[in-house]
Amino acid sequence: MSVYYQDYLGLDKILDSQHPLSAQAGMKPAHDETLFIIIHQAYELWFKQILFELDYIQGVFGKTHINDNAEDLNLVRHRLNRIIRILELLNQQVSILDTMTPLDFLAFRNLLTPASGFQSLQFRLIEARLGLSMDDRHQQGYYKRTNEGGFTPKDYQTLNHTEGVESLLIQVNRWLERMPFFNPQYWGIDPVASEWEHPFWKEYTALYQESLTERESKKINDFKWIFFREPSEGMTEEDKHALHTHLSPAAMRAALFIMLYRDFPYFQTGYQILDSLIEIDHWMAGWRHKHLSMVRRMIGMRVGTGNTSGAGYLEGALSRHFVYKDLAGLSTFLIERRKLPKLPVELIRHLSFYEA
Ligand code: HEM
Repeated sequence: MSVYYQDYLGLDKILDSQHPLSAQAGMKPAHDETLFIIIHQAYELWFKQILFELDYIQGVFGKTHINDNAEDLNLVRHRLNRIIRILELLNQQVSILDTMTPLDFLAFRNLLTPASGFQSLQFRLIEARLGLSMDDRHQQGYYKRTNEGGFTPKDYQTLNHTEGVESLLIQVNRWLERMPFFNPQYWGIDPVASEWEHPFWKEYTALYQESLTERESKKINDFKWIFFREPSEGMTEEDKHALHTHLSPAAMRAALFIMLYRDFPYFQTGYQILDSLIEIDHWMAGWRHKHLSMVRRMIGMRVGTGNTSGAGYLEGALSRHFVYKDLAGLSTFLIERRKLPKLPVELIRHLSFYEA
């Protein structure tokens, strides 16, 4: 039998899945409820595609050996970029919902209680798989509710299970940690007791320190702690806590190195992957911000249908739910291109795609 458009796309099901509650409540159907349903469904379809791309990306990073010169990483880069394009679209979609006025929304809002976007399992799975852990979530108590406004026990279990599986953040950390850039044999040196003693980092530390203005001078202490866990004089436990990174010092060193030497062809894929992760955070935060502004306009300071504090909760999530802020924060530790130390020939040869 030949393929039929309607069947292939399962349109019978999809197009028969909009059932406004206002039409069933014996009241005048609220015109804008259809838009409200369709926009959420469109979001959920795109969330599904994002999760599908993450399946592939995490499959590659989950391998015991990743070949930096094979097609895998290039596909990862490509598919991360696809996620970014989808998130861009999801940001734009908020403006369609903005055509609904607060009074239009009020016509059916109370019928939705206690359902809310808070319960979007797919959204939570995207967050968890990217690397947002329960400990880092704003108002964790809200997530643990299985009563009104929270998750069903089944969804809660799925979310919990996913949070226990290796996230992309952990996988990227491992990938970065195994980068061979500082291997003594490429630098013509004897093994060093710690990377802090490595000639590259000694030189870079001095160059970085030189680059700081007087007001920035204390940044050298942050640099030493974040990349080497070297405490500076007078550093308190509180200071250390404030400088906590999710990526290990070894992973941070490799990421900084890639950022610095991104113009070498070998580093391009790695650089673009790191940059994509920063951009995903950027678009997720962009969406949170647009959603928050829309919510403020739509319901003011009322509590959400999902029973959180509403705009207050969303504001906290916006400022706290960055996953790749360690990578974005690397910019603090860059120096001018023209001042970068020259790399040893052995290292360049090792990193080259074609041996000279
Ligand atoms: C009239 C439109 C909307 C209003 C007034 C609204 C309101 C809210 C509120 C108040 C919350 C906090 C939880 C609660 O107490 O309910 C929330 C969370 C959320 N909403 Fe919406 N929302 C709207 C549209 C949407 C749309 C179209 C989506 C698309 C999927 C969405 C997805 C979410 C998500 C994912 C969260 C959790 C955000 C986070 O934890 O960072 N919302 N929403």
